[in-house]
Amino acid sequence: MEKYPGKKNTAVFISGRGSNLKSLIKYSKKKNSLVKIILVISNNPSAEGLKYASRSKIKIYGNKKKSNFENKSLKLLKKYNIDLICLAGFMKILSGNFIKKFSKPILNIHPSLLPKYKGLNTHERAIKNKDRFAGASIHKVTEKLDSGKVILQKKVKILKSDNVRSLEKKVLKIEHEIYPKAIEMFLANL
Ligand code: GRF
Repeated sequence: MEKYPGKKNTAVFISGRGSNLKSLIKYSKKKNSLVKIILVISNNPSAEGLKYASRSKIKIYGNKKKSNFENKSLKLLKKYNIDLICLAGFMKILSGNFIKKFSKPILNIHPSLLPKYKGLNTHERAIKNKDRFAGASIHKVTEKLDSGKVILQKKVKILKSDNVRSLEKKVLKIEHEIYPKAIEMFLANL
């Protein structure tokens, strides 16, 4: 039986600061939210976001070693009946084996207007190419990096005065706004 009827048991994977995690936790606490965050997992045991999750009384797991990390995570996902994984600033690439074994949906947030700028340094590349817009995308995770179906994206204007830091700040703000929305849209269409 589901722990919280009507809500998907969710695990969030992070690597650092965890500001997207915070926005997801805030969303999950809303009465009508579609998710209950049960578990936060990190490939970086000292990730700031883990401390926040702990204070929010959410179970945490942090481990640096890749092979152990995936196997132990899969066990925990099973133990806590996790239906959905949200990657939020998770900087490791999950193996095809992991994705296959979990077998339920995995979503990711990426700081670019996919399919543009897969991978790292997205803001730097957008500024260098003199793009007029940057943005963020929420997409399904597949074995191919940052290439699964896009669920939702939002643009921000790149101003002449923008640098990587200012652009990152603007995009992060919309990341916090669209991740909960994308989860709602995704789960409503399952
Ligand atoms: C976000 O910009 C996310 O899109 C990217 O890494 C950053 C993580 O930020 N992949 P936070 O840990 O959620 O604060």
